[in-house]
Amino acid sequence: MTKPKDHSGPRDPYFLSMQAALADAGIAWPTLVVDRARLTANVKTLKADLPDGMGYRIVAKSLPSLGLLRHIRAISGTDRLMTFNQPMLSLLSVEMPDASQLLGKPLPIVAARHYFDTLPASHTDAAGNIQWLIDTPERLAQYAVLAQQTGRTLNINLELDVGLHRGGFEPGPALAAAIETIKADPSLNFSGFMGYEPHIPALPTALGWRDRALKGAWSIYTAALEQAQEAIGADAMAGLTRNAAGSPTYRYYKDLSVASEVSAGSCLVKPSHFDTELLEPHVPASFIATPVIKSFEHTRLPGLEFADGATAAWNPNSRKTVFIHGGHWLADPVDPPGLEYNKTFGRSSNQEMLNGGPELSIAPDEFVFLRPQQSEALFLQFGDIAVYEDGAIVDSWPTFPVSA
Ligand SMILES: Cc1ncc(COP(=O)(O)O)c(C=O)c1O
Repeated sequence: MTKPKDHSGPRDPYFLSMQAALADAGIAWPTLVVDRARLTANVKTLKADLPDGMGYRIVAKSLPSLGLLRHIRAISGTDRLMTFNQPMLSLLSVEMPDASQLLGKPLPIVAARHYFDTLPASHTDAAGNIQWLIDTPERLAQYAVLAQQTGRTLNINLELDVGLHRGGFEPGPALAAAIETIKADPSLNFSGFMGYEPHIPALPTALGWRDRALKGAWSIYTAALEQAQEAIGADAMAGLTRNAAGSPTYRYYKDLSVASEVSAGSCLVKPSHFDTELLEPHVPASFIATPVIKSFEHTRLPGLEFADGATAAWNPNSRKTVFIHGGHWLADPVDPPGLEYNKTFGRSSNQEMLNGGPELSIAPDEFVFLRPQQSEALFLQFGDIAVYEDGAIVDSWPTFPVSA
């Protein structure tokens, strides 16, 4: 085993400015901070990368806050959202009734019925902007009944299995039958396809595995489009939503031959799971800031005090200790540099221990910054998002309710 190197060092001026802004704003608890300038830059990066005519759909679950969505809509100019559950669908129907909502996963029929049962009469038009995602003939039959019961025409988007194997149709007789069923039912409207392929960048490039999977996904999608064209004719094809991609893959789409729109959300705030080669032009724009409760020059482990000296001598990064307000998030400390969790002491959601090296210098009430690994669930664990720009906290964006 090689002796660990000391990772401690001076604090990053970027985080010192953010810390000063939080103090000025009177914030002294674990807070999710979004850097609005970086967020804006990420939206522009995404838009600039899209080929002419490619639509952009915002993945709402990865950006679970109306403030975030409003800002991204304003910068990107899109009115398309991808929505993932009934509470989110209902909330967005009321708050953004003009937006197109494509379900990113099929909703159980009871949840879809609940949506209609609880939709305020003043917002009933918003339901017309929804594309319901359908993955099986059985679910299609359920939605046909729902359309009858509600007296509405439902837009049906068919989920394609382009290689992820998370369900959906593959080209073939079942897909043809589903399209025919929709065509024959005046209360259903065939609105397009959704084919998601996040498995591709996770495959090794060696032996051409990744290229093969990408070509495979596109040839499955193309075969489905050909089947659709046979059923509905070339003219009607122009009106279909051909949705594909997610943050890890949107940059693969360089023309409109397969997809007419890409969906992406996480890359706009860039949690660490999205630190991929393809997403290099995106910058981290979200951080957890949490106050230090206690700061100690030495690490002392309960019942193991006799070994503390030897442990610190072996691993300089375990020399000092801070206890932070909260913890145990899906996140990793980024500033001060070199902070690590302590496997022996364990994790805590109340006062988490972090250890650092000789250069660690942080006092109680100063902030430790962590970088989220993902956004969707983590963003809902804090109160309102603190919006940071130009050295100040400039706004506060409530997040979705946890149920959404
Ligand atoms: C259907 C679908 N499309 C796109 C995405 C991409 O979301 P993100 O860009 O946040 O990774 C997801 C994420 O789970 C998804 O389920």
